[in-house]
Amino acid sequence: MTPAPTLEHAARLDAQDPLAHCRERFTLPPGVIYLDGNSLGALPRSVLARVARAVEHEWGVGLIRSWNEADWYPAPQRVGGRIAPLIGAHADEVIVADSTSINLFKVLAAALRMRAGRRRILGERGNFPTDAYVASGAAELMNVEFVALEPEAVAAAIDERVAIVSLTHVNYKTGRMYDMAGITRRAHAAGALVVWDLCHTAGAMSCALNACQADFAVGCGYKYLNGDPGAPGFVFIARRHQELVHQPLTGWFGHARPFDFSDDYVPGRGMAACWSARLPSSA
Ligand SMILES: Cc1ncc(COP(=O)(O)O)c(C=O)c1O
Repeated sequence: MTPAPTLEHAARLDAQDPLAHCRERFTLPPGVIYLDGNSLGALPRSVLARVARAVEHEWGVGLIRSWNEADWYPAPQRVGGRIAPLIGAHADEVIVADSTSINLFKVLAAALRMRAGRRRILGERGNFPTDAYVASGAAELMNVEFVALEPEAVAAAIDERVAIVSLTHVNYKTGRMYDMAGITRRAHAAGALVVWDLCHTAGAMSCALNACQADFAVGCGYKYLNGDPGAPGFVFIARRHQELVHQPLTGWFGHARPFDFSDDYVPGRGMAACWSARLPSSA
């Protein structure tokens, strides 16, 4: 029988923890043991001064000049490039923009276009609700069906009817983790594409998107990446797909030259076309 945990035992484990020094990088109210980083990460100490500078100096003094002088404009690519190594991606495969739900819609619609003729998005029961809601919405709009199965049944159901397998790598309630390489291999063998939601992976678990030949991924910035509550999400598109992707939310920042203010939409190159409209607040 496992002995009941004691305070002394926990303190001993803390003392042996190779990451114990990281505790000092975060502020928490005295006495709080915070185990909700899966919902909203704790505030990193360094953010206080950085946010003050952004608000007081970059916005307050620099005003519109800060788009260039404070590097606001390339922030989605810059921050995406810093997330990339955490998820096993190249810097030019990740952009930070919009929310996870919106990014999921963008990649589902883009992937459905790449598999025109196939009529099914395959998902899982018990996934975080937004994943099912967005998949249902995209399916309705694109005139295909969304089928959600128990997690154990997903792999066997991947066949030639499936356009996209859309799964969350680590489940938000159970912590159950999919075999990313195995599912992706199986989907590709059936001619399908895979979209991975990394909300509970990025910053917490190792993840090797490119080693697994992943196609698309999305994730959020405010959980284990410790962004603020309004922090934008991120989106990954494998290099080999970037020229083929037409995501449907063609906002002005996805334009090749947004400040031309032209009447016609010309998509930016690579991941730039995935930035619909929003400046990352916590960049
Ligand atoms: C797995 C998963 N996907 C998506 C979301 C929602 O993300 P957003 O609010 O950025 O759309 C969450 C939020 O907790 C989540 O846990």
